Amino acid sequence: MKMKILIADKFPEHYVKKLEDAGLEVIYDPKLGEADLPNAIKDIDCLIVRSTVVNAETIEKANNLNLIVRAGAGVNNIDIAAANKKGVYVSNCPGKNSIAVAELTIGLMIALDRRIPHNVMDFKKGIWNKAEYSKAEGLFGKTLAIVGYGNIGKEVAKRAQAFGMNIYAKDISRIEGYGVKDFSEFDQILPIADIVTLHLPLTPQTKNLFNEKMFSLMKNGAIFINTSRADVVDEEALIKAVKEKNLKVGLDVFADEPESKSGTVSSKLIELENVYVTHHIGASTEQAQNAVAEETVNIILNYIKSGVIAHWVNRAKVTDSHYQLVVKHYDKPGVLAAIMDVLRKGNINIEEVENIIFDGGLVACCTMKLRAPATSEMLESIRNNPNVISYSHVSLA
Ligand code: 3PG
Repeated sequence: MKMKILIADKFPEHYVKKLEDAGLEVIYDPKLGEADLPNAIKDIDCLIVRSTVVNAETIEKANNLNLIVRAGAGVNNIDIAAANKKGVYVSNCPGKNSIAVAELTIGLMIALDRRIPHNVMDFKKGIWNKAEYSKAEGLFGKTLAIVGYGNIGKEVAKRAQAFGMNIYAKDISRIEGYGVKDFSEFDQILPIADIVTLHLPLTPQTKNLFNEKMFSLMKNGAIFINTSRADVVDEEALIKAVKEKNLKVGLDVFADEPESKSGTVSSKLIELENVYVTHHIGASTEQAQNAVAEETVNIILNYIKSGVIAHWVNRAKVTDSHYQLVVKHYDKPGVLAAIMDVLRKGNINIEEVENIIFDGGLVACCTMKLRAPATSEMLESIRNNPNVISYSHVSLA
């Protein structure tokens, strides 16, 4: 039976065709929203989304769903806990739209410094104001704090380096060129940064990270940019800082962002003169969308071919595995079943298992991660199996 794929977001036609050419049944319906998905998902095997919200109801109503691919980086629009309960794989395309987000970030920096949107709006109204718009700081020599030094933060650093900025970044695990200096504490960098830009995923640790206290540390008149996730910033605190500290702000994400692709928008930010908001378009360049779509197609086709999910985000990072049993054995039917039966009888849960074959197919090696230790009786019983060559049993603590 053909694998059925639903693409519930905008996706380049060329890549829709690639999936069809691979013999998959593809339903391309970019207009579907969060509320439509529970009805559309019933017999779907694989769901592809960008920012469309995949809630618990959608996952619960799915009869065949096996894989959700986030055609982008952030997976906070997918109810991962619900996916975990049903064993639905969730994967994403990290790094594939980073350049586009970095380009927008630099664009916002220049736009804010030179007030390009105001320049243009005045011109369109027939107003000439060289006197006013000649006041700009310039980016050269300015101190930039990059908060979040993953794929996007690094692309921002590369570009800021070309502008001659003095670059600091938070959470650098490895310093990788570009003349970037690490900063360990916000109270060291925020008071000296001319520009602060956020490139963080939304996690319980980053939610409302930029709150009243953080804004109070920032310089008066500094530029603040958020092209990551709205909830990383306490928007009320940001509004207060704009009013009291004259911050200049560039946002690609904000609270109450509309789910639909077009329509009306309401936000307290509209009234604020020095806040430029773009329409969550950070990843929306052809270059980025093609790179993301290519990766999405690769994830699906490789999974069909090999059973391996690339960028599998809901794989357990920590398991209940405390012991490891490795058994080298002759590769014959029933050998593994007999070994596992010994563990079953002792009520020992196998958390993870991998069986790998030596060249020639005569011998295999099975690695089992166990919740509890195998007893000496169990190990003896395994050793006595004539098809077992050797074993090792260690604690992983
Ligand atoms: C991402 O997480 O990749 C970006 O926020 C892009 O989102 P989008 O694909 O909905 O534009």
